[in-house]
Amino acid sequence: MKFHIQTWGCQMNDHDGEKLSGLLSVEGFEPVDSVEQAELVLLNTCSIREKAVHKVYSELGRLREVKQRRPLLVGVTGCPAQQEQAALFKRAPHIDFVLGTMALKQLPRLVAEAQAGMTRVMDTGEYPDNHLFPSSVTRRRDTAKALVTITEGCNHACTYCIVPTTRGAERHRPCEEVLAEVRSLATGGYREVELLGQNVNSYAGGCTFAELLERVSEVEGLEWIRFTTSHPMNFTRELARVLVTNPKVAPFLHLPLQSGSDRVLKRMSREYTVAEYLERLEYLGEGRAKLTLSTDFIVGFPGETDEDFEATMRVLDEVAFDGSFSFIYSPRPGTPSLRLKDDLPVGVKSERLTRLQQSQGRLTQASNDRFVGRQIPVRIETHGPTEHGWWLARSGEWKTIHLVAGPDRSLPFGELVQARITMASPHFLGAELV
Ligand code: SAH
Ligand code: SF4
Ligand code: F3S
Repeated sequence: MKFHIQTWGCQMNDHDGEKLSGLLSVEGFEPVDSVEQAELVLLNTCSIREKAVHKVYSELGRLREVKQRRPLLVGVTGCPAQQEQAALFKRAPHIDFVLGTMALKQLPRLVAEAQAGMTRVMDTGEYPDNHLFPSSVTRRRDTAKALVTITEGCNHACTYCIVPTTRGAERHRPCEEVLAEVRSLATGGYREVELLGQNVNSYAGGCTFAELLERVSEVEGLEWIRFTTSHPMNFTRELARVLVTNPKVAPFLHLPLQSGSDRVLKRMSREYTVAEYLERLEYLGEGRAKLTLSTDFIVGFPGETDEDFEATMRVLDEVAFDGSFSFIYSPRPGTPSLRLKDDLPVGVKSERLTRLQQSQGRLTQASNDRFVGRQIPVRIETHGPTEHGWWLARSGEWKTIHLVAGPDRSLPFGELVQARITMASPHFLGAELV
């Protein structure tokens, strides 16, 4: 049977897609690149904001049309599956099975039941070994950089966030198991790993996260280690030290701030004040100048006043983030912030988002400008030059690089090469191969 998995959402969800693809491949199913070729389509979905959930229903609508023309099995997994469970069948009766986020390994069984003609097949149970996934089964898309789960779930309770409901409480993968996976990846030719968790720095699989980073960095053959994502309250001095001193740890930190107003942070239950967030950045000391720093913002959180928003704009400027992701608050079912009065006009929210993004655009340009003239290592991310003649690459600082290599140079995919940065635009750096 030919299958196609469509994934959206965060890196953890991307990686779940790779695990699910592996589970089906091991059973002899054949992966294909499009819905048209597939006999089984699995939607691996996200519910972090309303827009992501809309996508679930619009994709399901598209699949219903296909299903009217020919036989097709349709499964739904990811956060909306865990959240909605059997309610999904009511809204979209053409779904054959629903798989929860904590029951990935049940996929082959659910598919077999659906193939056998059973309807409304579902497993949204919490399997305690979900995070202990056999790495030999995972079918990774990239051949140079690998995603590696270290924790699942989240023990924080940000009032706007659906993740604790859809991913459950934290479960940590034992340190030795993480190391064994990374070693086998390095032996298999991977040069970079990204350690994954909703909050990697609360890691407790037998050592601290900082210790885990140090141990992973000793694995032979690895060039860069990245991690996603960090909660400021669990960002320790020890982690800051490793980040700025260990040459294998890529010089990039994503540390979500959400708002620059203490009043809003409190209503979000973020567990820190702006001053405490800034103190975490101080942990980096002078090493901070070597890193790029990015963050997340939510604008238009219920009750956010002009003054609160101005406070966010001030912190944005003060920290001068190299990049940020910003979103308008999206009310999520079952989250505590639903009880807060959300009466700010949509127009005001969009205006604030636009202002924040314009300021960030200027900061990002300034951040990019600082690279001009520097020579830095970058990893080749394409198998050949684009039609414009340059290669796409990425730096340790997570900058997108357009690299000119000369007409007769062929650069191996995944290779680290030295680049001299020659120009900076808002979205990428132009560079020449050294
Ligand atoms: N675990 C990560 C967050 C994962 S969600 C962390 O704590 O950093 C990624 C980002 O989506 C969050 O940082 C937040 O900025 C945004 N987000 C989450 N829930 C949201 C909501 N209900 N509305 C708008 N943005 C939201
Ligand atoms: Fe959501 Fe907060 Fe947990 Fe991040 S730390 S996943 S925002 S509850
Ligand atoms: Fe989306 Fe779930 Fe990730 S809601 S962002 S797929 S944890």
